[in-house]
Amino acid sequence: MNIHEQKKHLRTRLKKRRELVSESKRKEKSQQISEYLSEIDEFNHAKNIFCYISYLSEVETHALINGFLDRNLAIAVPKIVDKSEMIAVPLSDLSDLEPDAMGILTPKLNLSASGPFDIAITPGVGFTVNGERLGYGKGYYDRWFSQNKVNIKIGIAFETQLVEQLPTEETDISLDVLVTEERIIDLRKPS
Ligand SMILES: Nc1ncnc2c1ncn2[C@@H]1O[C@H](COP(=O)(O)OP(=O)(O)OP(=O)(O)O)[C@@H](O)[C@H]1O
Ligand SMILES: [Mg+2]
Repeated sequence: MNIHEQKKHLRTRLKKRRELVSESKRKEKSQQISEYLSEIDEFNHAKNIFCYISYLSEVETHALINGFLDRNLAIAVPKIVDKSEMIAVPLSDLSDLEPDAMGILTPKLNLSASGPFDIAITPGVGFTVNGERLGYGKGYYDRWFSQNKVNIKIGIAFETQLVEQLPTEETDISLDVLVTEERIIDLRKPS
């Protein structure tokens, strides 16, 4: 199997695994993940945050985003604008979103937030404790990370999404911090 086939195979397997987390467990674990996030020091100083809007079996972020909005932070959320590009659109209220072609809640505006971002929170299908990440296979996040300045790239995931190894390519961008319902894995080098 070549690397793209390996990734595809793993995506299918790991998506199924994530779907086995029940709705009530998903809520509970997502809440725990939000609590861990607030233990990360930079989180409490961040002013400019990029965060995905959760869809289906992903770690839920609606409450998290509402918490950011309550703190009057500058929030931007992803919008897919063509087959290879995702932009970060400023958000002032979750009710400003509407489902895109995939059914994912997305901002109506096509305005791109300038950044730099103090924190970016990314979803994924699979992760390793070394911060490697497997996404949905379009390279949107990898490209976005290569084009935008982000101080701390955080992946949030359920423990069940962690695997021993992931096939990776040059263009795969790894995370600085991975947070699950059980732990905070900080991969930043001590300065
Ligand atoms: N910065 C980049 N420039 C050009 N091509 C890229 C870049 N990043 C990723 N790609 C390409 O995009 C395709 C999909 O990448 P990959 O399989 O890593 O997606 P993914 O990480 O699962 O998706 P996502 O980043 O959207 O979560 C690959 O062919 C990869 O080479
Ligand atoms: Mg990738």
